[in-house]
Amino acid sequence: MNTNLSRIEIICDMSKFQTLKKCLSEVRVGGMTFTQVLGCGVEKGTKEYEVDENYEMELLPKIQVAVVTPTDQVETLTNVIQKALYTGHIGDGKIFVYSLDNVIRVRTGDTGEEAI
Ligand SMILES: Nc1ncnc2c1ncn2[C@@H]1O[C@H](COP(=O)(O)OP(=O)(O)OP(=O)(O)O)[C@@H](O)[C@H]1O
Ligand SMILES: [Mg+2]
Repeated sequence: MNTNLSRIEIICDMSKFQTLKKCLSEVRVGGMTFTQVLGCGVEKGTKEYEVDENYEMELLPKIQVAVVTPTDQVETLTNVIQKALYTGHIGDGKIFVYSLDNVIRVRTGDTGEEAI
């Protein structure tokens, strides 16, 4: 099935939990999922811009937040999220956007946009 839904996944520092929860509550998304994960970005878990290519990456505790939204809302949402997370420092987080095939709401049988 081809819906006009997208999944926004944010991975950022644990310290941003409240900020992100508040931000997403204010834009009134239809639901969200928070997961605790381990991760690193291009600095391999260090605070350095230049990391030796042989350095073994260090995985740091992060939160991963997923929100499903109509695709036409993606740009608005990612702008709000980026603004909320931005400090300008390494490790501010990353936002991944995926297109979504379908959602089925178990209780009602609603699918696609109706389900969120
Ligand atoms: N290429 C990637 N593939 C999968 N997960 C990634 C990737 N890059 C970042 N992540 C996830 O996103 C988290 C946050 O990444 P981070 O903010 O450090 O991104 P970055 O690209 O290194 O940017 P910055 O240079 O600002 O730190 C990582 O801890 C990791 O879980
Ligand atoms: Mg990084």
